[in-house]
Amino acid sequence: MCGIVGYIGNKEAFPILIKGLRRLEYRGYDSAGVALINDNGDLNVFKTKGKVDNLVEYCSDKNVTGNIGIAHTRWATHGEPSSLNAHPHYSQSKNLAIIHNGIIENYSQLRSRLQAKGISFVSDTDTEVLVQLIEFIQEEKNIDLLTAVQLALNEVIGAYAIAILDHRNPDTIIAARNQSPLVVGIGDDEYFLGSDASPIVEYTDKVVYLEDGNIAVIKRHDDLKVVNIQNRKLYPEIQTIDINLGQIEKGGYPHFMLKEIFEQPDCITNCMRGRVNIDTDNVVLSAVIDYKKQLLQAKRFVIVACGTSWHAGLIGKQMIESFCRIPVEVEYASEFRYRNPVICKDDVVIAISQSGETADTLAAVKLAKRHGAFIYGICNAIGSSIPRATDTGSYIHVGPEIGVASTKAFTGQVSVLTMLALALAKERGTISSADYLKIVEELHQIPNKMKELLKLNKRIADLSRTFTYARDFLFLGRGYNYPVALEGALKLKEISYIHAEGYPAAEMKHGPIALIDSDMPVVVIATHNAMYDKVLSNIQEVKARKGKVIAIVSKGDETISRIADEVIEMPATIECLEPLLATIPLQLLAYHIAVCRGKDVDQPRNLAKSVTVE
Ligand code: M6R
Repeated sequence: MCGIVGYIGNKEAFPILIKGLRRLEYRGYDSAGVALINDNGDLNVFKTKGKVDNLVEYCSDKNVTGNIGIAHTRWATHGEPSSLNAHPHYSQSKNLAIIHNGIIENYSQLRSRLQAKGISFVSDTDTEVLVQLIEFIQEEKNIDLLTAVQLALNEVIGAYAIAILDHRNPDTIIAARNQSPLVVGIGDDEYFLGSDASPIVEYTDKVVYLEDGNIAVIKRHDDLKVVNIQNRKLYPEIQTIDINLGQIEKGGYPHFMLKEIFEQPDCITNCMRGRVNIDTDNVVLSAVIDYKKQLLQAKRFVIVACGTSWHAGLIGKQMIESFCRIPVEVEYASEFRYRNPVICKDDVVIAISQSGETADTLAAVKLAKRHGAFIYGICNAIGSSIPRATDTGSYIHVGPEIGVASTKAFTGQVSVLTMLALALAKERGTISSADYLKIVEELHQIPNKMKELLKLNKRIADLSRTFTYARDFLFLGRGYNYPVALEGALKLKEISYIHAEGYPAAEMKHGPIALIDSDMPVVVIATHNAMYDKVLSNIQEVKARKGKVIAIVSKGDETISRIADEVIEMPATIECLEPLLATIPLQLLAYHIAVCRGKDVDQPRNLAKSVTVE
């Protein structure tokens, strides 16, 4: 979490930094700040509680000139959200200023040591400890900033992406990375720094993704220098990024979330491009071709993920088990990494992550790798940490997802898992040609069916007004649609702050049914599949207790229309692909309820898009 931006060049830094912060605000938004060195060599820090807009207002009467600066948008870990705890942090002498994303785990020991040497602290953060340590070492040993940073980082345990300014060196930014992402953009006699490429893409497409242990010396009118903590010179690859500005702007939609919901038909088309070939009725994933041996010899698949990506994993499990006849376990990455799991050499571990930066998922990948498992990544952010730590994988190619609530990434993940299950099943000979062909052809139809569903936006917006003030919600589904129920509940709670629970429909009678009364909306995915009659009975049980049923049904269903209070019809598809459609009305329902409740849809409280802390 937390967003980092930096600029050094010939332009005014402040507007570039503010624009960059706005692009990174999805990473955290409880406070924001900027440090600039002006033409007189003064190092000025301006910071305030709240969002980037507050910072802009706060700075309106300040001198924000200078063509070198660093800026930060924070998601609090150590110390409450406040101006004092906001970044950048000065060192005691105010010669240095630092911004930081990550956690310094041994900050309390370092802080006590520095306090004993007479250094006083003004914030509660772990970050301030780092800048004080760097300055302390620099002064004690009378060395240059780079060497002091290297020595300080050698003492630090934890994760960090940092950028430091020293007003005595007004032509240099020093940046370093360990387990938190950092990208350097290389422009024309100017450099940019970002937690991801989104603040950079407007100015240059040439970037260097720093690796763990890299320290970048970014100097005006000079080549980018990258070294490690031992000062060994490194030669990072300059890569060309292929995201464009349109992908990271709202494009006329009131919120990123709505834009991203509506992008899904195109996203899934992009995700399947070159992979689902309708002329030959074939699914081709390059990773399955290149790593056929490792994938086919697997005795077990273990899926590790968090949040929405974990829900996609639950759907992937059902498909892989059903088509490929291989056991699949789905684990919360945060649990998996700490419970001494059994991991065998012939396991394939699938890591699913939109951001590719989720700390728990990354740690689970590293753990599985240490035990010799083969790692397959399903990620969205190109070049992020998880795909770089895996043996192979498939990007979902849905474009940058900015809204904190994940939408198009979920359907992209489910699409890739479907293709993976099909490609593997064909290789293993565990799927009949008829079933394979039917699924491939139907998969090809999904984007059009999504478009048809999205026409219900207005109807769902109207319906959501009826339920705006509900206190609780229950979401029910079975089989492939049980994870959809979990996902619907997560979407609603994270952006509208309404308590919601997802349940397998048949489990309702083992407890949650006690909650049902006339105030309780129950969303039921009740499509025309093998479970239809069972789910119909569950709906009757809810109605018998006066619950309000919102049913997602297959087009043309007349039975449930007579019983349910509200019905949303979705185009028919085969059962395993229903999640790709059934999720969309639930995304829209959560979106419109949150809007009706006046909530900040794209940046819900306490959340951040990229969870880079444990
Ligand atoms: O980037 P990841 O897919 O690894 O993120 C995992 C979760 O943090 C994420 O899905 C989160 O649950 C979303 N806010 C859900 O909308």
